[in-house]
Amino acid sequence: MHEERRLASGERLLVDVLGPGEGRGATDRHLEIFNFLTQPFDFWMSPTETMLLSRILTGNADPSLADTLLVGRIDGAIAGAAWHATDADTGELGGYGFVLTDPAQRGKGVAQQLTGLAVQRFWDAGGQASYLGTVNPVAQHVYEKFGYASFNGLTMRALRPGLDAAAFDGEFFARAGAGGIRDVRLGDLAPFTALVMAHEPRDWIVRDYTESMFFAPPAVQATGCLRPFCNALARHETNAANAWKVLVNDRGRLTASANLWAPAVGARRDSAELEFQAVPAYVDRAAAVIEAVVDEAAGNGIRRVRACAASPARQAVLAAAGFEVDHVRAGDLDLGDRRADVTVLRRDLAG
Ligand SMILES: CC(C)(COP(=O)(O)OP(=O)(O)OC[C@H]1O[C@@H](n2cnc3c(N)ncnc32)[C@H](O)[C@@H]1OP(=O)(O)O)[C@@H](O)C(=O)NCCC(=O)NCCS
Repeated sequence: MHEERRLASGERLLVDVLGPGEGRGATDRHLEIFNFLTQPFDFWMSPTETMLLSRILTGNADPSLADTLLVGRIDGAIAGAAWHATDADTGELGGYGFVLTDPAQRGKGVAQQLTGLAVQRFWDAGGQASYLGTVNPVAQHVYEKFGYASFNGLTMRALRPGLDAAAFDGEFFARAGAGGIRDVRLGDLAPFTALVMAHEPRDWIVRDYTESMFFAPPAVQATGCLRPFCNALARHETNAANAWKVLVNDRGRLTASANLWAPAVGARRDSAELEFQAVPAYVDRAAAVIEAVVDEAAGNGIRRVRACAASPARQAVLAAAGFEVDHVRAGDLDLGDRRADVTVLRRDLAG
């Protein structure tokens, strides 16, 4: 689909709005978009985000991902680009990223045009909440104009117009059946991000220890948005031992997750770190998701799994999954007004 917009400067902005699978490939035109977005001589993305970009541009993303790529041109040259991703099953949650305007074209409204198009398409398709992360105040200003509001540290969230921000998580992640466990997939990018960013269970503090994601406001809030998913997916896809399972409830909503990380070779290849998340209504199911990744990992040579907890409630989940206290990292987390101990729990697996 093509859109045409007249900018305040009088220039015409021609926008390619490419839906899932549309206009993807590995041609010179796609390389032009890749080079524009990655800025290879002025690098601004993490390596795993760059890998994700190459995948979505070339069309190598799996069908679980339903994404929209927007490329705006002025006089034929790329002026700006942006990307909004949802999952193909529900399309309820979105992740917005890869937003960049050519320095020579900034301040003309390019990012606002692209953001407006991306967000409106999402609401039109039934979207409920969209997440993004930025430290750039100009970008924050742009996003605020389209409904994004500060949510968790450097992340922002836009809710479908009319929804109540204070009530959203409680209603969206309410209990709806016991949920089924399946392997993670690329389309879980936004749903997993929503899980890591969720404010509850608040006393857990640890959201993703490996990715240094903690939540103990006001001093400690999210330091990344899409990065935890991209990094964990890269670890999962490059080593079969790095099992990753998610819990999906009767409404198709992702409500818990557990993933492992062990190096593929070397002396630590059979010793994995576990990360897990759950929304409050599914904390009682987190141990089952952990059991599922541990079972799969045992079949792939993992002999020892460790996980971190900074609260009794998170420790209780691990205890229910057969973990025992290994050691305590005294004062491991700087929470601003105090330092918190982190308890490392361990489960040994049979060979
Ligand atoms: C953030 C970014 C995408 C904005 O793109 P843009 O096309 O220049 O944005 P727009 O012209 O649509 O809107 C910019 C708004 O910020 C305001 N602004 C304030 N300071 C500005 C500055 N130094 N430069 C440009 N705009 C500025 C503009 O006035 C405008 O707001 P207004 O329309 O309410 O007056 C662009 O600066 C960029 O690519 N930055 C680097 C990459 C980045 O940080 N991306 C976002 C991370 S997810």
